[in-house]
Amino acid sequence: MSLLRIDGLSVEFPGGVRAAREVTLDVRAGETLAVVGESGSGKSVTALAVLGLLPETAKVTAGRIEFDGVDLLRCRPRRLNELRGGAIAMVYQDPLTALNPVLTVGRQIEEALRRHLGLGRRAAAGRAAELLDLVGIPQPGQRLKDYPHQFSGGMRQRVVIAMAISCDPRLIIADEPTTALDVTMQAQILHLLRRLRDDLGTSLMLISHDVGVVAGLADRVAVMYAGRVVERGSAAEVIGAPNHPYGRGLLASVPRIDAAARTGFAAIPGTPPDPAALPAGCAFAPRCGHVVDRCRAEDPPLLDAAGGRQVACWRHAEVAAAGGGA
Ligand SMILES: Nc1ncnc2c1ncn2[C@@H]1O[C@H](COP(=O)(O)OP(=O)(O)OP(=O)(O)O)[C@@H](O)[C@H]1O
Ligand SMILES: [Mg+2]
Repeated sequence: MSLLRIDGLSVEFPGGVRAAREVTLDVRAGETLAVVGESGSGKSVTALAVLGLLPETAKVTAGRIEFDGVDLLRCRPRRLNELRGGAIAMVYQDPLTALNPVLTVGRQIEEALRRHLGLGRRAAAGRAAELLDLVGIPQPGQRLKDYPHQFSGGMRQRVVIAMAISCDPRLIIADEPTTALDVTMQAQILHLLRRLRDDLGTSLMLISHDVGVVAGLADRVAVMYAGRVVERGSAAEVIGAPNHPYGRGLLASVPRIDAAARTGFAAIPGTPPDPAALPAGCAFAPRCGHVVDRCRAEDPPLLDAAGGRQVACWRHAEVAAAGGGA
Protein backbone atom coordinates (compact mmCIF):
# COMPACT_ATOMS: atom_id res chain seq x y z
CA MET A 1 0.00 0.00 0.00
CA SER A 2 1.32 3.41 -0.94
CA LEU A 3 1.61 5.93 1.85
CA LEU A 4 2.59 8.73 -0.52
CA ARG A 5 1.50 8.79 -4.15
CA ILE A 6 2.59 11.42 -6.63
CA ASP A 7 0.79 11.14 -9.93
CA GLY A 8 1.64 13.13 -13.06
CA LEU A 9 2.94 16.12 -11.10
CA SER A 10 4.06 19.06 -13.23
CA VAL A 11 5.55 22.25 -11.78
CA GLU A 12 6.55 25.34 -13.72
CA PHE A 13 8.40 28.53 -12.86
CA PRO A 14 8.03 31.84 -14.73
CA GLY A 15 9.81 31.95 -18.07
CA GLY A 16 8.58 28.52 -19.06
CA VAL A 17 10.92 26.65 -16.70
CA ARG A 18 9.51 23.15 -16.52
CA ALA A 19 10.97 22.01 -13.21
CA ALA A 20 8.88 18.85 -12.77
CA ARG A 21 7.21 17.06 -15.68
CA GLU A 22 4.57 14.46 -15.03
CA VAL A 23 6.46 13.08 -12.05
CA THR A 24 4.97 9.81 -10.90
CA LEU A 25 6.30 7.98 -7.87
CA ASP A 26 5.13 6.39 -4.66
CA VAL A 27 6.49 5.55 -1.23
CA ARG A 28 5.06 2.48 0.45
CA ALA A 29 4.63 2.04 4.18
CA GLY A 30 7.93 1.19 5.88
CA GLU A 31 10.09 1.41 2.76
CA THR A 32 12.86 3.71 1.61
CA LEU A 33 12.44 5.27 -1.81
CA ALA A 34 15.58 6.93 -3.14
CA VAL A 35 15.15 9.76 -5.63
CA VAL A 36 18.37 10.30 -7.55
CA GLY A 37 19.40 12.57 -10.40
CA GLU A 38 21.85 15.32 -11.16
CA SER A 39 21.55 18.93 -10.05
CA GLY A 40 18.45 20.64 -11.43
CA SER A 41 16.60 17.41 -12.26
CA GLY A 42 13.61 18.41 -10.10
CA LYS A 43 14.19 16.40 -6.92
CA SER A 44 13.75 19.26 -4.45
CA VAL A 45 10.85 20.78 -6.36
CA THR A 46 9.04 17.45 -6.10
CA ALA A 47 9.73 17.21 -2.36
CA LEU A 48 8.64 20.81 -1.75
CA ALA A 49 5.41 20.21 -3.65
CA VAL A 50 4.57 17.35 -1.27
CA LEU A 51 5.06 19.62 1.71
CA GLY A 52 3.22 22.56 0.17
CA LEU A 53 6.41 24.59 0.43
CA LEU A 54 7.02 25.54 -3.20
CA PRO A 55 8.03 29.19 -3.73
CA GLU A 56 5.12 31.47 -4.62
CA THR A 57 6.38 31.82 -8.17
CA ALA A 58 5.98 28.08 -8.75
CA LYS A 59 2.83 26.81 -10.38
CA VAL A 60 1.55 23.26 -10.15
CA THR A 61 0.12 22.79 -13.64
CA ALA A 62 -0.96 19.18 -13.38
CA GLY A 63 -1.05 16.15 -11.13
CA ARG A 64 -2.09 14.85 -7.81
CA ILE A 65 -0.31 14.18 -4.51
CA GLU A 66 -1.96 11.88 -2.03
CA PHE A 67 -0.69 11.10 1.47
CA ASP A 68 -2.54 8.38 3.34
CA GLY A 69 -5.66 9.17 1.32
CA VAL A 70 -5.45 12.96 1.80
CA ASP A 71 -5.24 15.05 -1.39
CA LEU A 72 -2.35 17.34 -0.44
CA LEU A 73 -2.72 19.77 -3.34
CA ARG A 74 -6.35 20.46 -2.52
CA CYS A 75 -6.64 20.06 1.26
CA ARG A 76 -7.06 23.05 3.58
CA PRO A 77 -3.82 24.86 4.52
CA ARG A 78 -4.54 24.05 8.15
CA ARG A 79 -4.65 20.34 7.46
CA LEU A 80 -1.38 20.55 5.53
CA ASN A 81 0.19 22.40 8.45
CA GLU A 82 -0.85 19.65 10.81
CA LEU A 83 0.64 16.99 8.56
CA ARG A 84 3.88 18.91 8.08
CA GLY A 85 6.08 18.36 11.11
CA GLY A 86 3.59 15.75 12.30
CA ALA A 87 2.92 12.77 10.06
CA ILE A 88 5.36 14.08 7.44
CA ALA A 89 8.76 15.34 8.56
CA MET A 90 11.48 16.97 6.50
CA VAL A 91 15.26 16.80 6.90
CA TYR A 92 17.18 19.33 4.80
CA GLN A 93 20.73 19.35 3.53
CA ASP A 94 21.93 22.06 5.88
CA PRO A 95 20.99 21.41 9.50
CA LEU A 96 21.49 25.07 10.38
CA THR A 97 18.52 26.13 8.28
CA ALA A 98 16.29 23.84 10.33
CA LEU A 99 17.54 25.02 13.74
CA ASN A 100 17.00 28.34 15.45
CA PRO A 101 20.43 29.64 16.57
CA VAL A 102 19.11 31.57 19.56
CA LEU A 103 17.17 28.75 21.20
CA THR A 104 18.63 25.73 22.96
CA VAL A 105 18.26 22.43 21.20
CA GLY A 106 16.10 21.15 24.06
CA ARG A 107 13.72 24.06 23.77
CA GLN A 108 13.27 23.48 20.03
CA ILE A 109 12.56 19.76 20.35
CA GLU A 110 10.27 20.34 23.32
CA GLU A 111 8.28 22.99 21.46
CA ALA A 112 7.67 20.59 18.58
CA LEU A 113 6.56 17.90 21.02
CA ARG A 114 4.23 20.23 22.85
CA ARG A 115 2.72 21.66 19.70
CA HIS A 116 2.18 18.44 17.79
CA LEU A 117 1.66 15.90 20.56
CA GLY A 118 0.27 18.18 23.26
CA LEU A 119 2.81 17.01 25.85
CA GLY A 120 3.29 18.94 29.10
CA ARG A 121 6.59 20.64 29.93
CA ARG A 122 8.05 17.81 31.97
CA ALA A 123 6.96 15.02 29.62
CA ALA A 124 8.36 16.96 26.66
CA ALA A 125 11.74 17.41 28.37
CA GLY A 126 11.92 13.69 29.16
CA ARG A 127 10.97 12.71 25.63
CA ALA A 128 13.47 15.20 24.14
CA ALA A 129 16.31 13.53 26.08
CA GLU A 130 15.14 10.11 24.90
CA LEU A 131 15.15 11.32 21.31
CA LEU A 132 18.71 12.68 21.52
CA ASP A 133 19.75 9.36 22.99
CA LEU A 134 17.99 7.53 20.17
CA VAL A 135 19.95 9.44 17.51
CA GLY A 136 23.23 8.72 19.29
CA ILE A 137 24.04 11.94 21.13
CA PRO A 138 25.95 11.19 24.35
CA GLN A 139 24.82 12.78 27.64
CA PRO A 140 21.49 13.82 26.14
CA GLY A 141 20.15 15.45 29.31
CA GLN A 142 23.13 17.84 29.37
CA ARG A 143 23.17 18.49 25.64
CA LEU A 144 19.55 19.66 25.64
CA LYS A 145 20.79 22.85 27.30
CA ASP A 146 23.23 23.60 24.46
CA TYR A 147 22.68 25.87 21.46
CA PRO A 148 23.02 24.60 17.86
CA HIS A 149 26.47 26.20 17.40
CA GLN A 150 27.80 24.07 20.25
CA PHE A 151 27.29 20.92 18.13
CA SER A 152 29.46 19.69 15.25
CA GLY A 153 27.89 19.47 11.77
CA GLY A 154 27.21 15.74 12.05
CA MET A 155 25.77 16.12 15.57
CA ARG A 156 23.55 18.95 14.35
CA GLN A 157 22.15 16.74 11.63
CA ARG A 158 21.41 14.15 14.34
CA VAL A 159 19.54 16.84 16.27
CA VAL A 160 17.53 17.70 13.16
CA ILE A 161 16.70 14.02 12.71
CA ALA A 162 15.68 13.83 16.38
CA MET A 163 13.33 16.76 15.73
CA ALA A 164 12.03 15.09 12.59
CA ILE A 165 11.15 11.88 14.43
CA SER A 166 9.89 13.65 17.55
CA CYS A 167 6.30 13.61 16.40
CA ASP A 168 6.31 9.98 15.26
CA PRO A 169 6.14 10.79 11.56
CA ARG A 170 5.00 8.13 9.14
CA LEU A 171 7.12 9.61 6.37
CA ILE A 172 10.46 11.39 6.52
CA ILE A 173 11.54 13.31 3.42
CA ALA A 174 15.31 13.78 3.56
CA ASP A 175 16.68 16.10 0.85
CA GLU A 176 20.44 15.55 0.53
CA PRO A 177 20.76 14.95 4.29
CA THR A 178 24.46 14.11 4.18
CA THR A 179 25.83 16.33 1.42
CA ALA A 180 27.28 18.87 3.84
CA LEU A 181 29.05 16.20 5.91
CA ASP A 182 32.37 14.40 5.59
CA VAL A 183 32.45 10.78 4.49
CA THR A 184 32.59 9.28 7.99
CA MET A 185 29.70 11.41 9.24
CA GLN A 186 27.80 10.63 6.07
CA ALA A 187 28.06 6.91 6.79
CA GLN A 188 26.96 7.41 10.40
CA ILE A 189 23.90 9.45 9.45
CA LEU A 190 22.88 6.89 6.82
CA HIS A 191 23.30 4.14 9.39
CA LEU A 192 21.09 6.10 11.75
CA LEU A 193 18.40 6.55 9.10
CA ARG A 194 18.47 2.84 8.34
CA ARG A 195 18.14 1.98 12.03
CA LEU A 196 15.20 4.34 12.46
CA ARG A 197 13.46 2.86 9.46
CA ASP A 198 14.01 -0.66 10.83
CA ASP A 199 13.12 0.14 14.45
CA LEU A 200 10.29 2.62 13.97
CA GLY A 201 8.93 1.43 10.62
CA THR A 202 9.05 4.99 9.27
CA SER A 203 8.88 5.42 5.50
CA LEU A 204 11.72 7.39 3.99
CA MET A 205 11.98 9.40 0.79
CA LEU A 206 15.71 9.90 0.44
CA ILE A 207 16.87 12.45 -2.13
CA SER A 208 20.42 12.48 -3.39
CA HIS A 209 22.51 13.32 -6.44
CA ASP A 210 24.85 10.50 -5.42
CA VAL A 211 23.76 6.94 -6.19
CA GLY A 212 26.55 5.62 -3.97
CA VAL A 213 24.98 7.33 -0.96
CA VAL A 214 21.56 5.73 -1.35
CA ALA A 215 22.58 2.31 -2.68
CA GLY A 216 22.81 0.61 0.71
CA LEU A 217 19.58 2.05 2.06
CA ALA A 218 17.00 2.12 -0.72
CA ASP A 219 14.32 -0.51 -1.28
CA ARG A 220 13.22 1.20 -4.47
CA VAL A 221 14.71 3.92 -6.62
CA ALA A 222 13.35 6.65 -8.89
CA VAL A 223 15.86 8.22 -11.27
CA MET A 224 15.05 11.78 -12.38
CA TYR A 225 16.32 13.61 -15.44
CA ALA A 226 15.29 17.08 -16.61
CA GLY A 227 12.20 17.14 -14.40
CA ARG A 228 11.02 13.62 -15.24
CA VAL A 229 11.20 10.22 -13.62
CA VAL A 230 13.04 8.22 -16.28
CA GLU A 231 13.32 4.91 -14.46
CA ARG A 232 11.77 3.46 -11.33
CA GLY A 233 11.78 0.07 -9.74
CA SER A 234 13.50 -2.01 -7.09
CA ALA A 235 16.94 -0.80 -5.97
CA ALA A 236 18.46 -4.11 -7.02
CA GLU A 237 17.17 -3.69 -10.58
CA VAL A 238 17.57 0.04 -11.07
CA ILE A 239 20.98 0.41 -9.40
CA GLY A 240 22.21 -3.07 -10.25
CA ALA A 241 21.36 -2.96 -13.95
CA PRO A 242 19.70 0.27 -15.07
CA ASN A 243 17.74 0.08 -18.32
CA HIS A 244 17.71 3.82 -19.03
CA PRO A 245 20.89 5.11 -20.70
CA TYR A 246 21.02 7.97 -18.20
CA GLY A 247 20.91 5.52 -15.30
CA ARG A 248 23.73 3.59 -16.93
CA GLY A 249 25.80 6.74 -16.97
CA LEU A 250 25.00 7.39 -13.32
CA LEU A 251 26.07 3.92 -12.36
CA ALA A 252 29.26 4.12 -14.36
CA SER A 253 30.25 7.14 -12.30
CA VAL A 254 29.74 5.46 -8.91
CA PRO A 255 32.88 3.34 -8.46
CA ARG A 256 35.18 6.18 -9.41
CA ILE A 257 36.70 7.97 -6.47
CA ASP A 258 38.36 10.93 -8.16
CA ALA A 259 37.03 14.39 -7.38
CA ALA A 260 35.08 14.80 -10.62
CA ALA A 261 33.15 11.59 -10.06
CA ARG A 262 32.16 12.52 -6.53
CA THR A 263 29.85 15.10 -8.00
CA GLY A 264 28.12 12.09 -9.50
CA PHE A 265 27.89 12.39 -13.25
CA ALA A 266 31.34 12.68 -14.72
CA ALA A 267 30.78 9.65 -16.94
CA ILE A 268 27.94 11.20 -18.93
CA PRO A 269 29.13 13.46 -21.74
CA GLY A 270 27.34 16.75 -22.31
CA THR A 271 25.20 18.82 -19.96
CA PRO A 272 21.54 18.67 -18.91
CA PRO A 273 19.15 20.71 -21.07
CA ASP A 274 17.84 24.16 -20.20
CA PRO A 275 14.49 23.46 -18.47
CA ALA A 276 13.04 26.52 -20.24
CA ALA A 277 14.03 25.23 -23.68
CA LEU A 278 13.68 21.48 -23.66
CA PRO A 279 14.33 19.67 -26.93
CA ALA A 280 11.47 17.94 -28.73
CA GLY A 281 11.26 14.25 -27.92
CA CYS A 282 13.35 12.71 -25.15
CA ALA A 283 15.29 15.30 -23.13
CA PHE A 284 18.22 12.90 -22.81
CA ALA A 285 18.50 12.25 -26.57
CA PRO A 286 21.28 14.83 -27.21
CA ARG A 287 23.52 13.00 -24.68
CA CYS A 288 22.48 9.47 -25.45
CA GLY A 289 24.59 6.82 -27.12
CA HIS A 290 21.51 4.77 -28.06
CA VAL A 291 19.56 7.55 -29.75
CA VAL A 292 17.42 6.87 -32.86
CA ASP A 293 15.13 9.19 -34.86
CA ARG A 294 12.04 8.37 -32.81
CA CYS A 295 13.78 9.62 -29.62
CA ARG A 296 14.15 13.10 -31.14
CA ALA A 297 10.51 13.24 -32.19
CA GLU A 298 8.52 11.61 -29.39
CA ASP A 299 9.08 11.84 -25.64
CA PRO A 300 8.71 8.29 -24.28
CA PRO A 301 6.31 7.74 -21.37
CA LEU A 302 7.25 5.37 -18.52
CA LEU A 303 7.06 1.94 -20.18
CA ASP A 304 6.85 -1.37 -18.36
CA ALA A 305 10.19 -3.16 -18.57
CA ALA A 306 12.14 -6.10 -17.18
CA GLY A 307 11.88 -6.95 -13.49
CA GLY A 308 8.69 -4.95 -12.85
CA ARG A 309 10.46 -1.64 -13.40
CA GLN A 310 9.31 1.25 -15.57
CA VAL A 311 11.61 3.04 -17.97
CA ALA A 312 11.01 6.18 -20.06
CA CYS A 313 13.08 5.03 -23.01
CA TRP A 314 11.99 3.75 -26.42
CA ARG A 315 15.09 1.59 -26.53
CA HIS A 316 15.11 0.20 -22.99
CA ALA A 317 15.17 -3.41 -24.17
CA GLU A 318 18.19 -2.78 -26.41
CA VAL A 319 19.91 -0.82 -23.65
CA ALA A 320 19.33 -3.69 -21.21
CA ALA A 321 20.62 -6.22 -23.71
CA ALA A 322 23.66 -4.12 -24.56
CA GLY A 323 24.99 -3.87 -21.01
CA GLY A 324 27.98 -1.58 -20.53
CA GLY A 325 27.86 2.21 -20.18
CA ALA A 326 25.84 4.98 -21.82
N1 LIG B 1 12.67 29.35 -7.08
C1 LIG B 1 12.92 28.97 -8.33
N2 LIG B 1 12.74 29.81 -9.37
C2 LIG B 1 12.99 29.43 -10.64
N3 LIG B 1 13.41 28.20 -10.98
C3 LIG B 1 13.61 27.31 -10.00
C4 LIG B 1 13.39 27.64 -8.62
N4 LIG B 1 13.67 26.55 -7.86
C5 LIG B 1 14.06 25.59 -8.73
N5 LIG B 1 14.02 26.05 -10.01
C6 LIG B 1 14.38 25.28 -11.21
O1 LIG B 1 13.68 24.05 -11.20
C7 LIG B 1 14.52 23.01 -11.68
C8 LIG B 1 14.55 21.88 -10.67
O2 LIG B 1 15.21 22.34 -9.50
P1 LIG B 1 15.40 21.45 -8.19
O3 LIG B 1 15.85 22.38 -7.12
O4 LIG B 1 14.21 20.63 -7.95
O5 LIG B 1 16.61 20.52 -8.62
P2 LIG B 1 17.33 19.39 -7.76
O6 LIG B 1 17.17 18.12 -8.52
O7 LIG B 1 16.86 19.42 -6.37
O8 LIG B 1 18.85 19.84 -7.86
P3 LIG B 1 20.02 19.84 -6.73
O9 LIG B 1 20.65 18.46 -6.79
O10 LIG B 1 20.96 20.89 -7.23
O11 LIG B 1 19.42 20.16 -5.41
C9 LIG B 1 15.86 23.63 -11.98
O12 LIG B 1 15.95 23.89 -13.34
C10 LIG B 1 15.84 24.91 -11.20
O13 LIG B 1 16.62 25.88 -11.83
MG1 LIG C 1 17.74 19.87 -4.54
